[in-house]
Amino acid sequence: MDMKLAVAAEIAGAMQSFPECTLNKEEIAGMLEVPPDKKLGDYAMPCFRLARVLRKAPPLIAGQLSEALEGSALFSRVEAVGGYLNVFLSRKEMAEEILSAVLSANGHWGGSDLGAGKTVCIDYSSINIAKRFHIGHLSTTMIGNSLKRIYDFNGYTTVGINHLGDWGTQFGKMICAYKKWGDRATVEASGVQGMVDLYVRFHKEAEKDPTLEDEGRAWFKKIEDGDPEAMEIFTWFKEVTLRDAKRVYDVLGVSFDSYAGESFYSDKMGPVIDSLRASGLMVESQGAQVVDLEAYGMPPALIMRSDGATLYITRDLAAAFYRYNTYHFDKCLYVVAYQQNLHFAQLFKVLELMGADFYKGMEHVAFGMVSYEGRALSTREGYVVYLDELLDKAVEKAREIIEEKSPNLENKDEVAKQVGIGAVVYFDLHNDRMKDIDFRWERVLNFDGETGPYVQYTHARCCSVLRKAESLGKMEPDYSQVTDDEAQDVLMSLSRFPETVRKAMDGNEPSMITRHVTQLAQAYNKYYFEHRIMDEHDLAGTAARLNLTRAVKEVIATGLYLIGVEAPERM
Ligand code: ARG
Repeated sequence: MDMKLAVAAEIAGAMQSFPECTLNKEEIAGMLEVPPDKKLGDYAMPCFRLARVLRKAPPLIAGQLSEALEGSALFSRVEAVGGYLNVFLSRKEMAEEILSAVLSANGHWGGSDLGAGKTVCIDYSSINIAKRFHIGHLSTTMIGNSLKRIYDFNGYTTVGINHLGDWGTQFGKMICAYKKWGDRATVEASGVQGMVDLYVRFHKEAEKDPTLEDEGRAWFKKIEDGDPEAMEIFTWFKEVTLRDAKRVYDVLGVSFDSYAGESFYSDKMGPVIDSLRASGLMVESQGAQVVDLEAYGMPPALIMRSDGATLYITRDLAAAFYRYNTYHFDKCLYVVAYQQNLHFAQLFKVLELMGADFYKGMEHVAFGMVSYEGRALSTREGYVVYLDELLDKAVEKAREIIEEKSPNLENKDEVAKQVGIGAVVYFDLHNDRMKDIDFRWERVLNFDGETGPYVQYTHARCCSVLRKAESLGKMEPDYSQVTDDEAQDVLMSLSRFPETVRKAMDGNEPSMITRHVTQLAQAYNKYYFEHRIMDEHDLAGTAARLNLTRAVKEVIATGLYLIGVEAPERM
């Protein structure tokens, strides 16, 4: 059981001395605060809000409650101080309660069935065909992957969608360039880069020969009409791009349930356009079809150009209906950089105006930008960091550090991969997602700071302690041996983990979990350095300390899993 809820339940019992008060334990849990200073108690309940209902001064309420709680086994002490009810947990009971709860959850501590019967669609990564995967795609991919795991962990049915950017005239140009100057073997061998080269060449040549633009458009028209040759090349472009992307996804441990992207909706926009027209929402403006959003302080949503071409938002409208009709989602999240704030505000507003009530479950999960070693990335200036290269470098650097720190480690390659990739992912997910990130190697791979390797190392440390203890016989733990301040901090952190997971889910904010496991690792390391875990003269105390270690190991592993980072057992 969640410690906070256990405390709230105890207080709810005492509340019965106020018949006018009908708060249940969940409501009380919502009122509980954690005092900034441990001397004030482990939890505090402000009684000010109760004053009106109970028609009593807050200090009186706190006093009466503290009397009613006298003798409770859960609390070692209860105090009324200036309108607050401060409670001190009975450390031994608390240790026993928390550790049994964590360990009996069998790796599911922090999970729930809150989402049972509900579905959430998560649109993330959503890469563009024939473009290379770069560092700017890391956040959408990893935040989305983490959210998928968090929702799964809470009983939701999740649908991971890679809404591919695979529609637009640029693909006509690319086919045109390929037909003129390309060959299959080169593109096969060089992958996406080969297509990018063709595209660059197209633009160079088109400056000299503008008729190429028409040829490019003609090829796109062929894609639209389903011409077999155009389709064959286009499909192959997609395969090559996805093949390259999948390599990165595999390294990152990311997967999707659907790759239905923009082209998938190219023949599904009709009903949306008809309905917009029939309802009078769509009006003509300078030959184009738009939905006027001025009343909502936004520029008009451009639905169709004067030549009949549809737009990004038109396909997103079709996708929204398709997803709702296919998955009946309760929530649909779009993990996309904040540069697209306006796009999603417009999308949701148009859906609302169309009476598509499901828009209420939609949310744009925005995030900030990444710079690299202090400098903003810019394709135009040639300052790009490709993701595959970045990840290779991370593994290489991790490998060097491991070679130096643990030369005798057995599976160095495997661990270097877990640590290098984990460091990058952790770094990406350790700040509030709206904050911009500056990627710096010295911070990413530091084993001592608030980093992935630091947390992973703590996990490996727990594993090593537990391995050494394997030879000890089974023993009934004596929890009075884990009542010191350092153990208490660890226990509190363990007990608050479920609340963090829930908040991370409610706010679609994986960084809360990153920070929680970091703080748990710090608390455990402090404990580890100040206490001897194995003591042959005190096997019962040892058993309690080992249970504490086991619980920390499990919760760190869970937390890391939820943010998409692996937890090696040896480092
Ligand atoms: N491919 C788009 C881009 O790179 C992101 C797509 C996001 N998803 C969506 N349904 N619009 O900007």
